Amino acid sequence: MFFQYADSGSWTESTYRANEEDFARIKLRQRVLANIEDRSLASQMAGQPVSMPVALAPTGLAGMQHADGEMLAAQAAEEFGVPFTLSTVSICSIEDVASVTRKPFWFQLYINRDRDFALNLIDRAKAAGCSALVLTLDLQIMGQRHKDIRNGLSAPPRFTLNHILQMARCPIWCLKMLGTRRRTFRNIVGHARGVNGLDALAAWTSDTLDPTLSWSDIEWVKKRWDGTLILKGILDEEDARMAVRTGADAIVVSNHGGRQLDGAPSSISMLPRIVDAVGDRIEVHLDGGIRSGQDVLKALCLGAKGTFIGRPYLYGLGAAGRQGVLQSLEIIRRELDTTMALCGERDLGNLSLKNLVA
Ligand SMILES: Cc1cc2nc3c(=O)[nH]c(=O)nc-3n(C[C@H](O)[C@H](O)[C@H](O)COP(=O)(O)O)c2cc1C
Repeated sequence: MFFQYADSGSWTESTYRANEEDFARIKLRQRVLANIEDRSLASQMAGQPVSMPVALAPTGLAGMQHADGEMLAAQAAEEFGVPFTLSTVSICSIEDVASVTRKPFWFQLYINRDRDFALNLIDRAKAAGCSALVLTLDLQIMGQRHKDIRNGLSAPPRFTLNHILQMARCPIWCLKMLGTRRRTFRNIVGHARGVNGLDALAAWTSDTLDPTLSWSDIEWVKKRWDGTLILKGILDEEDARMAVRTGADAIVVSNHGGRQLDGAPSSISMLPRIVDAVGDRIEVHLDGGIRSGQDVLKALCLGAKGTFIGRPYLYGLGAAGRQGVLQSLEIIRRELDTTMALCGERDLGNLSLKNLVA
């Protein structure tokens, strides 16, 4: 159930597939006899130093992929020198993650009808020392994900015979989940008004998303947060221009990993237009479909200053906890470094359209 929650997109999953397929179409320009000694992947994302420009994207329920999943992933990101973004709908809370990390992490915010709760989250993220707020804009209503419906993935979970069979096949997962007290949405339960248990949470989540959210709402978020602000879920040049007007520090070109509007184009196919429209006025990041260091390099060639990965680290997390996240990052780092070298470059800052074959 939780694997399929990650390993799926909305409706026909055409956008989910396009995110990966469109990366595969981009061809790299091979160069030889360039000095490629002393290579560096170090760069900056939203003004913060990173060992490579690959952040861990916010993913809900990561603490169900592996017990204490968000805490383990944050520790892995910290060790690796890349940003970890904690989702609003995480299992481990902002405070849980802060208690096991020393460096600041990023916090992703969903704004819902309960504005007091959004303000509470912003204040808690500030108190925990988070160094960027990632405001997600593309989930004013939920995309329909068929695998979740089939699996009965809802809050509170509906326990069926199928769930019991699934758990019987995953005894180690069950043992680890029994060994932690973190098994609910800990950013929400006990913090949102009237949400003290799973039943109340189900009611709260079903009518909490705010379809009236508008560009003017960014203003009060900005005021309350008063720090680095990243707007996530931009897939259109006009929206990118609107994002620039808000004074945010960066945008993430994203279709939510193909989990919202099925039929929307892949993120990588929209990147060049968005960079053309606003790339000189705001930092542009990208996520969706990155499965290798080669994909990261392609995004950088097309003008992204940074990237995010969702599923690649979730698979590592589910398979092997903190070590699995480290391994997924290391695989990407190695591929990025080797690919950059074979393209005749030794600094990510030099990458551009010239490194691609038109
Ligand atoms: C299981 C799962 C849960 C997600 N939950 C959130 C979330 O809570 N907030 C958010 O802004 N994006 C969420 N996303 C979207 C990711 O932040 C990111 O945009 C997407 O995963 C990138 O695509 P990729 O998985 O192909 O790398 C989620 C994605 C996945 C796969």
